[in-house]
Amino acid sequence: MAGNNINVIFVCLGNICRSPLAEAIFSQKVERMALGNKIKVRSAGTAHWHIGDPPDPRTLEIAGDHHVPIEHRAHQLKPAEYSGFEYIIAMDRDNRKEILKNFENDSKTRVFMMREFDNLKSGKDVPDPYYGGKEEFEMVFNILDESCDNFLEFLLKEHHL
Ligand code: 4NP
Repeated sequence: MAGNNINVIFVCLGNICRSPLAEAIFSQKVERMALGNKIKVRSAGTAHWHIGDPPDPRTLEIAGDHHVPIEHRAHQLKPAEYSGFEYIIAMDRDNRKEILKNFENDSKTRVFMMREFDNLKSGKDVPDPYYGGKEEFEMVFNILDESCDNFLEFLLKEHHL
């Protein structure tokens, strides 16, 4: 763990739709608050299928529509990496289950569901848009945008930033 940095990783299944979008949206908010030197943001998938791939074209399109810069290559999260993060944010319950399979409970890493930070603290899944269309990607964008706002607010309070 690097110094006093707060290391955050967003995790989905393929790391080409939801989590790279979450990473891009959250990074933009962090940069806008000039906190890029304190809060380090990454994303990964639980699956290996897309390792090295750029985000899905629809992810790039929806990010572009909302003027959110996005540049990423898919990475598979390995249990050995968990301890490098203070916060692991799972997009859905399957992702969380996969992460918790190899999780050491005495670690100081905290695992949350993305939507524990939506406006209703619903804790629901961020729906997988992979087999959907533009409408699903737009819905996912809005869920992530709202959840990232609240997650950042949570971090500011938690870490007295
Ligand atoms: P993501 O979406 O987990 O949000 O990146 C998916 C990407 C790829 C697949 C499934 C979901 N896939 O089956 O290849």
